[in-house]
Amino acid sequence: MNISVIGTGYVGLVSGVCFADLGHKVTCVDKDIQKVMKLRNGEVPIYEPGLQELMVKNAAAGRLSFTHDVPEAVQDAEIIILAVGTPSLPNGEANLQYIEQAAREIALAMNGYKIIMTKSTVPVGTNEHIRSIIASLTELPFDVASVPEFLREGSAISDTFHPDRIVIGTDSETVKEKLTELHSKLANNILITDVRSAEMIKYASNAFLATKISFINEIANICEKVGADVTLVARGMGYDRRIGSAFLSAGIGYGGSCFPKDTDALIQIAGNVEYDFKLLKSVVNVNKDQRFNVIRKLQEALGDLSGKTIAIWGLAFKPNTDDVRYAPAIEIIGELTRLGCTVKAYDPVAMENFRKSGNYENVIWCDAMTSAAADSDALCLLTEWDEFKKADLAYIEKIMNQPVLIDGRNVFTKDKIALTNFHYYSVGRPNINQVSQAIYSDAAV
Ligand code: UDX
Repeated sequence: MNISVIGTGYVGLVSGVCFADLGHKVTCVDKDIQKVMKLRNGEVPIYEPGLQELMVKNAAAGRLSFTHDVPEAVQDAEIIILAVGTPSLPNGEANLQYIEQAAREIALAMNGYKIIMTKSTVPVGTNEHIRSIIASLTELPFDVASVPEFLREGSAISDTFHPDRIVIGTDSETVKEKLTELHSKLANNILITDVRSAEMIKYASNAFLATKISFINEIANICEKVGADVTLVARGMGYDRRIGSAFLSAGIGYGGSCFPKDTDALIQIAGNVEYDFKLLKSVVNVNKDQRFNVIRKLQEALGDLSGKTIAIWGLAFKPNTDDVRYAPAIEIIGELTRLGCTVKAYDPVAMENFRKSGNYENVIWCDAMTSAAADSDALCLLTEWDEFKKADLAYIEKIMNQPVLIDGRNVFTKDKIALTNFHYYSVGRPNINQVSQAIYSDAAV
């Protein structure tokens, strides 16, 4: 099939590359000429394992091309994938300006029947809005479908090739057949729904996953007070197939380009129809507070933080990405510097993006995890990169001022820590060599 993808962000670029790899002829369109030039030269603007190789392979095979010319891309394609951004407005609502603009451009360029397949996450009713924009500008036939995207950063290619399900929201038989055929090699599980339900499935899925994370984080906070271990609690819960083991890793809360934005948007969508989504509001508030447990633990271990040097391992919102959008590290580092600390920060790939994400004073950008740890009064692990899991803790302990380790992602085992003298604080697990008096005598191992 001939496919055009409008928007070469995460979703657009990965979808375009993967559909090309399945043998379709794909044109990816972006307004940003510089970006198009880079893509043509085989440069990928994001860090996503495996993406560049796959992109270069399919471009060389003549199945994948890049342009900033929307009309040309629209005219060549039978299916047009809308994958432009829907960033948050100040009130949490999704900003639809790029969607609306793309819809107008598609309408004005159309030369025959087209299927417009929306992958951008959009509020319920948006595909109908897209339909009315296009219908107001052309008499040519077209259909609009909602096909929400569920890929995760860091495993985007494998998620695209092996999705748990494909949801196709449409009221057209032609679209149902065409898009089922398009996705037939990817998933056995294809659910056809009406357009509004498909739009809702995306928000409900992300909100539910965010709820699981905030739930386990609150359980972790209680575990810390009653002397239980949240990793064992999560394992015990996860064996129940009704609950499932995924997304029950306690930590410093979720970040990234989807969960924070989509939970806010769903609260707003509910509010617009006068429904107070109390549960989801709590999920968001729990998440906002969870990251500050890192600061509370540092204060417990070191007392007044003013004048202290704190090492940070991990700036990306999760491993295997250079994305720092809504990363907990942003607020944690902001708060540490406000409290008078010097921060020594290191991330294997997200340093550049993080530096650009704000105005950081008293932050020393380090080129290795060891240089960040050297001469620090405490070390905080905020992203669970493999590199950190393999760290030689005995050496790290030697080069630090004080052996304080706050593990925000429960990366280290009790056995590994037991070989060191670290005062070790993790999330929802008993502290090891706790500095102050343990609440329960058996909690200090
Ligand atoms: C998410 C959804 O998983 C994906 O389906 C959707 O298309 C986009 O949003 P992504 O943001 O790439 O994907 O990352 P994900 O792996 O879901 O993690 C999101 C955040 O939750 C990260 O900050 C991660 O650290 C956190 N998380 C995840 C936890 O804190 N605990 C968990 O158990 C799982």
